[in-house]
Amino acid sequence: MMNSRLAFVGGGSMARSMVGGLLANGYGPDRIRVSDPDAQQREALSRNFPVTVTEDNLTCIDAADVIITAIKPQNMKQVLISLHHYLKPSSQLLISIAAGIRTRDIMRWADCDIPLIRVMPNTPALIGYGASVLFAGQNVRLSQKNMAQNIMQAVGEIAWVENEDLLDAVTGISGSGPAYFFRIIEIMINAAQKNGLDPELSKNLVLQTALGATQLAKDSDLSAGELRKQVTSKRGTTEAALNFMENSRIEAVFEDAISAAIARSRELASELGEE
Ligand SMILES: NC(=O)c1ccc[n+]([C@@H]2O[C@H](COP(=O)([O-])OP(=O)(O)OC[C@H]3O[C@@H](n4cnc5c(N)ncnc54)[C@H](OP(=O)(O)O)[C@@H]3O)[C@@H](O)[C@H]2O)c1
Repeated sequence: MMNSRLAFVGGGSMARSMVGGLLANGYGPDRIRVSDPDAQQREALSRNFPVTVTEDNLTCIDAADVIITAIKPQNMKQVLISLHHYLKPSSQLLISIAAGIRTRDIMRWADCDIPLIRVMPNTPALIGYGASVLFAGQNVRLSQKNMAQNIMQAVGEIAWVENEDLLDAVTGISGSGPAYFFRIIEIMINAAQKNGLDPELSKNLVLQTALGATQLAKDSDLSAGELRKQVTSKRGTTEAALNFMENSRIEAVFEDAISAAIARSRELASELGEE
């Protein structure tokens, strides 16, 4: 896998996270190309990573074994139509990381039988802590599934689903998920400062608590609910905070927020897929 040549079409935040994670994991920079129309994006990419950066999508994909479309869902149709004469179905694998956009629409726009895998990654890929879920479309050989799996495993944990529709739920949980945690971290840091702690201590305490709680939950045989109960004594401080959260319908807030993300993923599929 470390030998496959990768072409990222689109060099925004998700491409940067994946490229950074792959390089940190020993992937050869000479095997990665990235294309982006935006000069500032290209400069930032070249400054941070010793990979080949180009304005031209065709130069980017020309010698690639794997083409990763890391563009916004709204750009998928136009980019795939512009590439379709240049795709090589017999030797190339196409990976789409676009939220929502279904394999049937991607295949229609690419207008050839190129093997296609959809992946829903997330930005902690940058530091090797990504979480990705993969779905294989038609025409995908086992060797290509392994190739995609190896690429994504280099930047974090992976799982496969056999029902494409489940990628909408994955998008609402892990694709968009880092932002939910960033928001909670932000809220807790602000609360720490409002209660008199200095900014540095506030940040360190919140980040270490988030990291510690996550690691504990990962390492433990107990469920998150059981771990929570363990640290919640009757009439104690934690109970006071958790009671307030429950009375404020915290679970409903999160369920509704995640449902909104999932609905948006489905909406992108139907809005853009109909075009
Ligand atoms: N960010 C996440 O956390 C995340 C997580 C999971 C999945 N995704 C998916 O990953 C994809 C990329 O998201 P992102 O957050 O990385 O978006 P982004 O930061 O906006 O990056 C997309 C890049 O593609 C460039 N682009 C636009 N038109 C292009 C073209 N014709 N050819 C080549 N490049 C072109 C954009 O340039 P301009 O800025 O000039 O338009 C931009 O630099 C999306 O489909 C999203 O659903 C993102």
